[in-house]
Amino acid sequence: MSAPPRPYRDLREHLGALRDAGLLITVDRPIDKDSELHPLVRWQFVGGIAEADRKAFLFTNIVDGLGRKYDIPVVVGAIAANREIYSIGMGAGIADIQGKWDRAIAHPVKPRVVTDAPCHEIVIQGADLLGEFKGLDALPIPVSTPGFDSAPTLTATNVITKDPVTGVQNMGTYRAALKASDRLVVRMATRVGGADGYQHYLAHQQRGDKEMPCAIVLGCPPAVAFMGPQKLPAGVDELDVAGGLAGGPINIARCKTVDLMAPAESEIVIEGYIDTQYVEPEAPFGESHGHVALEEYNMPMRVTAITRRRNPVIPSYISQVAPSESSVIKRVAYEPLFLDHLRNTLGIKGVKRVSLHEPLTGLLRVTTIVVDQGMPRTEIWRALYGAAFFKGDCGKICIAVNEDIDPDNADALFWALAYRSNPIKDIRVVESRGQGHGPQREHEGAEDSTLLMDATMKSGMPPLALPKKPYMESSKRIWEELGLPALRPQSPWFGYSLGDWMPQWDAAAERAAAGHYLENGRISARQKRKGLKPETKFRPDGGE
Ligand SMILES: Cc1cc2nc3c(=O)[nH]c(=O)nc-3n(C[C@H](O)[C@H](O)[C@H](O)COP(=O)(O)O)c2cc1C
Repeated sequence: MSAPPRPYRDLREHLGALRDAGLLITVDRPIDKDSELHPLVRWQFVGGIAEADRKAFLFTNIVDGLGRKYDIPVVVGAIAANREIYSIGMGAGIADIQGKWDRAIAHPVKPRVVTDAPCHEIVIQGADLLGEFKGLDALPIPVSTPGFDSAPTLTATNVITKDPVTGVQNMGTYRAALKASDRLVVRMATRVGGADGYQHYLAHQQRGDKEMPCAIVLGCPPAVAFMGPQKLPAGVDELDVAGGLAGGPINIARCKTVDLMAPAESEIVIEGYIDTQYVEPEAPFGESHGHVALEEYNMPMRVTAITRRRNPVIPSYISQVAPSESSVIKRVAYEPLFLDHLRNTLGIKGVKRVSLHEPLTGLLRVTTIVVDQGMPRTEIWRALYGAAFFKGDCGKICIAVNEDIDPDNADALFWALAYRSNPIKDIRVVESRGQGHGPQREHEGAEDSTLLMDATMKSGMPPLALPKKPYMESSKRIWEELGLPALRPQSPWFGYSLGDWMPQWDAAAERAAAGHYLENGRISARQKRKGLKPETKFRPDGGE
């Protein structure tokens, strides 16, 4: 079967693009999927490697804890090990990712139904799904957090379900633990702001349906993969927005054993029915909130078919504690939604950027809003409240800063809080928020609260006390000429005005830097005064 014409790359073409860009590492030596694979890739998130230097890893020689060999390769990090990899999947420069999301959401494109789908090259059903090294047991699904997880778990999923009332499909990235060669347990978050697939589950229950059709896609075109973790309003079909991202309709095909449509270029589609009556224990599993999710009842799914391409590749997301592929993929998707909400829905144009803090906190707990210097205080509070309550499970701690503060630099955030906020006026604690996605049990009714902090400058301040940029730059050239260790400039690395500064001081500093300090001495001698207490402020323009 040949893939119908399309304006977007499928996963294998995307891997080719990553290889060409030097962003794919191929590992041909045997790797145990149960104990070695994820820990190996984890090193690039905890080994002091800069985000820009992270790569995708393609494992071509997979074995498992029993010594079995698999002929299907596994790729980790191919969708979002870092922003560059994500941007290659998007077909947009890093700076245009936000714009691309905005345009796709504003201009969705309906998918196109095809009959000749590559994902149906091989169809496995019935008895062929049953037994050792058959069905799911023949797929090299890795254990994500060896030492804690109780099962190989699908992580890079696009789980398709359908609203039984409206007929609109949903696609979410939900984990699913392997339980038997024809059974897995899917976890859809039931909290406020959780999984839309869970709303479909409830709708099926209300109609008295004992089962809900479900299709789990593994490995689809990046434009479609990006939709899984994206938070779109319920009722929006992610495949339409994927078409907007791809710049043309996504090819979809009717599944073989369930009444659902799946992306035609999927590598693998696991079809089946989720039980809406019985639940089965699932986890422990190392979660994206950075703690191990303990065992809980989730949704068993009986598998009715596994359809696949002839030589598929299986993606797996590295998740657990942030940073991870899971946090990069969500961050790049969620930040544009927050900025759009504050700027366009609430009309707070002075907001320049929204940053969801990533390392360890995992995006959900700390939100930084970057605003224009001089934005009215009332607008800053509107932005803080807007960011804190846009999503029920995001924004427990919100901080407003000016544009010179790098929200990814916790030292800079502390600096802003320390020098630009007066806690009694600039910090508010607001009661009543849900626990959100986290290690606390989400359904025991325990409430959390919200911390809002205005760490913006309330008036002009003296410059940052570092040499101005040209002096730092010319010294850097000397540093390099001397062959000293390579520099990685940490912002802020040069001094700049923070509003309280005068041209006369610029002139004096220029004279001093050019060796003419004696001229400055002659000027200050003329400005001598009698009878003032030392440390009385002096303004060269005669002001106070
Ligand atoms: C790697 C990864 C794993 C995830 N696992 C789950 C999960 O098991 N259950 C869940 O409800 N959400 C999970 N999420 C978050 C959802 O994908 C996200 O909330 C998304 O918006 C769900 O789509 P929906 O809004 O259509 O339900 C995961 C996200 C990523 C990136």
